[in-house]
Amino acid sequence: MSKVFVFDHPLIQHKLTYIRDKSTGTKEFRELVDEVAGLMAFEITRDLPLKDVTVETPVGQAASKKIAGKKLGLVPILRAGLGMTDGILRMIPAARVGHVGLYRDPATLKPIEYYVKLPADVEEREFIVIDPMLATGGSAIEAINSLKKRGAKTMKLMCLVAAPEGVEAVQKAHPDVDIFLAALDEKLNEKGYIVPGLGDAGDRLFGTK
Ligand code: URA
Repeated sequence: MSKVFVFDHPLIQHKLTYIRDKSTGTKEFRELVDEVAGLMAFEITRDLPLKDVTVETPVGQAASKKIAGKKLGLVPILRAGLGMTDGILRMIPAARVGHVGLYRDPATLKPIEYYVKLPADVEEREFIVIDPMLATGGSAIEAINSLKKRGAKTMKLMCLVAAPEGVEAVQKAHPDVDIFLAALDEKLNEKGYIVPGLGDAGDRLFGTK
């Protein structure tokens, strides 16, 4: 069974409060999501392997560390995942960025893949799949399926807010994928919104409502 991490760092929790607040406007919402994504990147990369190196300082030689050549990939799920991507990229600028686009089939309500573009060396990279809201888990499960189908071996899932239903569904479908959150909320409502959540992340990021 995969693990679930809820980041309790005070800066993440403080900023998440403003993200949740319905009176926060689009510009501030976008900036806060970007900032929290950067802070979460800091925590999610805690297990990256380091190698010993020596560097010449102006004063002498320092025994130092560098990340040991791990190849990372970010995969935002369109469209709300885009809101977290730049914040993570600022922390991990060498990461490559793939995209997965999904829509919900109106008849079956199942997510259908309409766009997938991943780095060519997909098998060698460790991926962070990004979606601010883990509601039913349908999109995240399908996005991870899309990556695995194309050869991806190692993945983490990063979301701002999750419902227990979504966490359970992802853990069941992909027990090898750990889940990293800023908050685990109470439940889903009858419209599929996370309660209390933050509303529609895509609409609030892009000002479409
Ligand atoms: N997607 C959102 O943007 N918000 C929710 O609460 C659930 C899914």
